[in-house]
Amino acid sequence: MRLLLGQAIYWTLFSVSAHARTLDVNRQTVLGAGTQGSLDADDGLLKSFSVLPDKGWGVDDILDEAGATGADVWRISQSHVDIYFPTLHDYMTSPFHDIDLPHNTSRVSRAALVPPSSSGRDTGPSSWNLTSLSNSTFHSVYHPLEEIEEFVEAMAFLYPDLVQLVNIGHSAEGREMVAMRISKGYGGSLKQKAGFVVTGAQHAREWVATSTALYLTHALVAGASEPYAMSSLLDYYDFYVIPVPNPDGYVYTWEHNRLWYKNRQVIGPHEKCVGIDMNRNWGHKWKAKARFPTVKANKPSTPTDPCTPWYPGHRAFEAPEVNNIANFITTLPALKAYIDLRSYGQILSTPWAYSCKKTPKDAEDQIEAAHGAARAIKQAHGTAFTTGTLCSMLYKAPGNVVDWMYAKAGIKYAYAVHLRDTGTYGFSLPPEWIRPVGEESAKMIQFLAEFIHTIPK
Ligand SMILES: *[C@@H]1O[C@H](CO)[C@@H](O)[C@H](O)[C@H]1NC(C)=O
Ligand SMILES: *[C@@H]1O[C@H](CO)[C@@H](O)[C@H](O)[C@H]1NC(C)=O
Ligand SMILES: *[C@@H]1O[C@H](CO)[C@@H](O)[C@H](O)[C@H]1NC(C)=O
Repeated sequence: MRLLLGQAIYWTLFSVSAHARTLDVNRQTVLGAGTQGSLDADDGLLKSFSVLPDKGWGVDDILDEAGATGADVWRISQSHVDIYFPTLHDYMTSPFHDIDLPHNTSRVSRAALVPPSSSGRDTGPSSWNLTSLSNSTFHSVYHPLEEIEEFVEAMAFLYPDLVQLVNIGHSAEGREMVAMRISKGYGGSLKQKAGFVVTGAQHAREWVATSTALYLTHALVAGASEPYAMSSLLDYYDFYVIPVPNPDGYVYTWEHNRLWYKNRQVIGPHEKCVGIDMNRNWGHKWKAKARFPTVKANKPSTPTDPCTPWYPGHRAFEAPEVNNIANFITTLPALKAYIDLRSYGQILSTPWAYSCKKTPKDAEDQIEAAHGAARAIKQAHGTAFTTGTLCSMLYKAPGNVVDWMYAKAGIKYAYAVHLRDTGTYGFSLPPEWIRPVGEESAKMIQFLAEFIHTIPK
């Protein structure tokens, strides 16, 4: 099998070895042992197909093909569609094998998609050394929900003057959802501080979004002398962090299917499938009938199939998780900034998601801040982020959280941030990258907070 594989597959220069010996986490290059001797017929393939509308392969056409065969779409942009094939056989027998579309291939090792066992990591606050951001071992691995809850409780225990926990409601399966309020209080002055909201992975499989929310929380309480500490921001901001907006989905990625995307809501007694795409369920310009990603003029628009990963629900706020977060947000004063952490693609995007034609009235300020934030990210480890509106960078999608935060919650600086990488590992981003991604994200937050604080109103 190994020989056959070696002959049958042309690994592009950008393929990566699953058994990479050296991982330069900062430069994002992978120096592997090569493909020889490390090919595994069970490894998955992540193929990034070029969008070529002139040749009849627009985004819609590629997605139609993917939809017809149930292929797992990992990322969509104006220029590429990334599709994951769990095995070589899945690719060879898919229509994509016969379509002559230029693409790059990256190998995703099966092992990288198996949630780590607890034997490989420190468990429990006593072994994480949480009193220091740089020395803590917590940010070197991904954690299951119960460990994240321990981390969150440890933050409130270790930093009682700064961190308060707020229960914001229950998930579809009855899990308690928690927000952290990170605030120095009024400190003698009665001046209202500005509010800054950060959410982790709405899409369950985007683990690095949640690990980054936890890193940022830690950076906000860390001693000011530590590298990447952001505690000085608490002089003029109160932060609200919701690290796990989709707890049921997150648990499902650990226990059943690493690549699960939606929440785990039972939608109706007669529905075959479970789950709503939370990031299409927010109540600004929400649509039931949107085809994905756009409605083709010549095709009737049909209600989206509840079995698709991007099912928007029967109505806005049908997902209790979305409803809980929205209710919590509406109780918070003076909100100025919002970051929806996501993966992957290295993109910082502004509203709107629902329309590529309309421009928010604050677009100029939003984009200016985004450019600065991208520069700040780059200064940390050289990671390049692109900027633009969500619709132009990805695709038209109504019901997005960023649109709601901007239009309905009145948060002027509302962004979606797709963290690393650009499609080598995708959702299987190695744990070695958690810390550098956290660090560059801290620089981004720091820049945005200072920009917003100093820009003339
Ligand atoms: C493959 O990746 C290289 C390097 O990132 C890029 O220049 C090239 O355009 C990609 N090819 C396709 C077909 O996407
Ligand atoms: C834990 O942190 C303390 C203080 O930052 C440091 O002195 C100690 O070496 C750390 N322990 C471990 C196991 O890293
Ligand atoms: C981290 O650990 C080192 C070695 O134990 C120690 O010298 C340093 O002070 C620690 N840093 C912090 C911020 O506690």
